[in-house]
Amino acid sequence: MNLRHLFLTCQAQTSPAPFGIEIDRAEGVYMYGPDGKRYIDLIAGVSVSNAGHCHPDVVRAVCEQASKYMHLMVYGEYIQSPQALYAAKLVSLLPENLSNVYFVNSGSEANEGAVKLAKRYTGRQEIIGFRNAYHGSTYGVLSLTSDECFRNAFRPLLPEVRLLDFNSFDHLSQISERTACVIVEPLQGEAGAIVPEEGFLRSLRQRCSQTGALLIFDEVQTGFGRLGKLFAFEKYGVVPDILAVAKSLGGGMPLGAFISSKTIMDSLQTNPALGHITTFGGHPVSCAAGMAALDVILSGNLIPTVENKARLFRKHLENSDIEDIRGDGLLMAVELGKPERLSKFIRLAYENGIATDWFLFNNSSFRIAPPLIIDGSQIDEACSILVKVLKRI
Ligand SMILES: Cc1ncc(COP(=O)(O)O)c(C=O)c1O
Repeated sequence: MNLRHLFLTCQAQTSPAPFGIEIDRAEGVYMYGPDGKRYIDLIAGVSVSNAGHCHPDVVRAVCEQASKYMHLMVYGEYIQSPQALYAAKLVSLLPENLSNVYFVNSGSEANEGAVKLAKRYTGRQEIIGFRNAYHGSTYGVLSLTSDECFRNAFRPLLPEVRLLDFNSFDHLSQISERTACVIVEPLQGEAGAIVPEEGFLRSLRQRCSQTGALLIFDEVQTGFGRLGKLFAFEKYGVVPDILAVAKSLGGGMPLGAFISSKTIMDSLQTNPALGHITTFGGHPVSCAAGMAALDVILSGNLIPTVENKARLFRKHLENSDIEDIRGDGLLMAVELGKPERLSKFIRLAYENGIATDWFLFNNSSFRIAPPLIIDGSQIDEACSILVKVLKRI
């Protein structure tokens, strides 16, 4: 019985054609197969490993915390230093109204918690999202997915959900006094790295403020430096009422959070008490890892390097056999025009030592979202392989 056989027979599969690449270890921007084959990672575990794989500071923090305690009690009951210190660190980096952190386990849960919080605080029922957004796979946020192919088999979904077109200024008038919240990815990741039009997020903010709807930014994928600012909301000049984060938040360990003002967050304490609870949310080892990874990102001054790195990728690729490059910072989608080209490309890229991926709602673009620690020579090497592969498809 080899691992491939066990993977295919004993482990649940999410598609009929998994990559099925076996990884033995990972370090920095590289992943290695059991035969020593090296891959340059242009996915970063889908925007998770912003500080690189297995950074020694993160590994040390995990080991130290694991040797003190792992799980003690459900989130929010005992005082656990990794949670309290990480919450304080995050709050110190955020605007005044984002001052209270509720830790959960994942991005889906962060968004579920954010939406529940908005309904509880406003007493309203309508939830507004945007077409082609991805907020996770749990029922509540699946209801905010527009793609019929993803949602149809799982009906009935949440009622009182309205979906608007991303970047449609006209559609914003549908936000009303009935709306509890509007949830938006500031840059739509899984739609294929669709950037907001100039002023769109500011107009959205304005309409939410006018109607009393809470604005939720889903920064699960855009957070922690990926767009060249710690959070995308800083880049686009808009402060949300609730910020949902995950992925890079845990530095490679599972962790999510929704963050808001203390006044808004306190509404989860009563009517009912325990309005949102989680056993493993804010796992101490995940918080310790996340805090160490955030220190790596900040003390290594990685965020100011993001724009130049993105420019270098674009410079190498813009005259190659591609149709377009979308996105912002180190969250890019390279458009190949046809799904058949993309599947050929991805297979050849792996064969040639590049790990990339497609997007959930775009089957003709590949993803460039490497760890932020990637350096110029690694970008040169990755792009020279990509350009060669592009010539062959
Ligand atoms: C923007 C966004 N929100 C939410 C999620 C769901 O996060 P998770 O898979 O941790 O539940 C994802 C995952 O890709 C995402 O990209």
